Amino acid sequence: MFRLAIIALLLNFTTLYSQESKLDSQFHKERRDEVRKRMPEKSVAVFFSSAIRNRSNDVDFLYHQDANFYYLTGWKEPHAVLLIYKEKQKDEIGFYNEKIYVRERDAYREMWDGKRKGVEGALKMDFNRVFSKEDFKDANHLFSKFNSVLLFDFKNDTRNFKNDPNDLYDLTNFFKKEINFPDSFDPIRYRIYNRIKNFDYEKIEILKDEINFYIERDESLLEDPNINAFLEAQNEDFYNEIKKRATFELKDYNFDVESLPGIMADLRERKTPKEIEILRKAVSISVIGQIEVMKAMKPGMSESEIQGIHEFVFKKYGVPYEGYPSIVGAGGNGCILHYIDNNDTAFNNQLVLMDVGAEYLGYTADVTRTIPSNGKYSDEQRELYDIVYEAQEEGIKAAVVGAKFSDIYRACYDVIESGLVRLGIVGSLNESERYREVRKYFPHGVAHHIGLDVHDPGNYQLLEPEMIITVEPGIYIPEGSNCDPKWWNIGIRIEDDILITSKGPENLSRLAPRKWEEIEEIMKLDSALDSFILPEIN
Ligand code: GLY
Ligand code: MN
Ligand code: MN
Repeated sequence: MFRLAIIALLLNFTTLYSQESKLDSQFHKERRDEVRKRMPEKSVAVFFSSAIRNRSNDVDFLYHQDANFYYLTGWKEPHAVLLIYKEKQKDEIGFYNEKIYVRERDAYREMWDGKRKGVEGALKMDFNRVFSKEDFKDANHLFSKFNSVLLFDFKNDTRNFKNDPNDLYDLTNFFKKEINFPDSFDPIRYRIYNRIKNFDYEKIEILKDEINFYIERDESLLEDPNINAFLEAQNEDFYNEIKKRATFELKDYNFDVESLPGIMADLRERKTPKEIEILRKAVSISVIGQIEVMKAMKPGMSESEIQGIHEFVFKKYGVPYEGYPSIVGAGGNGCILHYIDNNDTAFNNQLVLMDVGAEYLGYTADVTRTIPSNGKYSDEQRELYDIVYEAQEEGIKAAVVGAKFSDIYRACYDVIESGLVRLGIVGSLNESERYREVRKYFPHGVAHHIGLDVHDPGNYQLLEPEMIITVEPGIYIPEGSNCDPKWWNIGIRIEDDILITSKGPENLSRLAPRKWEEIEEIMKLDSALDSFILPEIN
């Protein structure tokens, strides 16, 4: 029965895979139009491509385009800038409402680094106006004439190519000067000032709570005389005085780093049919990776070899990358939530937690399975596994249209809490102490959007159709925990990718075995890798 399901998956996968599903220029253009619709009057939104980052000497890290930039352009090359205007602008050719600046072609560099699209390539991609990046600094952008210049805060580790006066480093510095962006910009202070500038006296307590939330994380905010005075203020006149001061402090800035993240979250949290199709494939490839590892797993395998099998499967499907560094942790390493060293060995009696996702056409899956290296769960491992499984079942059931993310969390939490109490891992304490103890063993959230980013942006309000989220409860009991040592060094997470539909949750990764019985069954199957034996090296 189970084998049939796998064959069905493979057939299903083959048909899906044979269709061409790349996003086209039309998709990206529509996304830009959607951004424009949400922009305020008389604004321009400015997006920069990702920076190139140095890895070692003259070797850089693998380049990965900024997700928003890719979403809006389909452009995968560095040193590019996109401008989207709310209203039509005019130049000598006519009207336009967007511009893209890109890197030129360069025969010599292309010999070393590979083909570039250049201006000619961008011209084929349905942008209103295409320019060389060399023109960016000479263009009369007139940013000051806009009510607001929308942007994301800048990353501060952009590599400066000294021989190129128009690389991303120079373009962002030029742009910062144009918009009066302060050298020591503090986004939180800026956010608080903006809130004070726009505050509504009726909601004063909410704003104070918000400011106190930031102060708990950074006490130096209290040294700011305006923030301090606002918290101390006792009457409306005094509040208004501080509001005036905040407005004065912000008067030279027409930039806005607050709106664009919200606009992008609004767009990206629901997937278009094309994106859903792509994500289905990313998930299917990751599922097959999990299945192949289940068949190939042997005690004594290294975490990196296990990682290699997952990633080899991805590459067999022509998918070169993972959506995030693969997490493969055996035994106690499984208790390290984002363990990426993957340099240990899975011993006979250990569980191996494998959180791995293929990135297909830019979109990443996020799938976790936790399996016994010797093919059989011990009693303790099974008991904990069943709790996580049951928690995940309840979490997935709760992932329905109109539900809150916290409903999914609550559904998982309740199962885990009662399970840990039943097993005596958490004592029968009062409610808040019990919560604190349970959180030690289950310290993370259970659901996030996936997409171009493994933690895709979203508003995290109510669930809507076309969202794709994870449901990923876990229990982690590191060595030295305050419970019977028989539970130590067990880390279990089960993570699936769920499409929210009006008919209920659809588990896109359901064909990766999840029940412990199914996992033990599939681990008995032979693997093509059983005969892949390399010579020993002394
Ligand atoms: N792979 C990271 C996460 O599960 O959120
Ligand atoms: Mn996840
Ligand atoms: Mn994950």
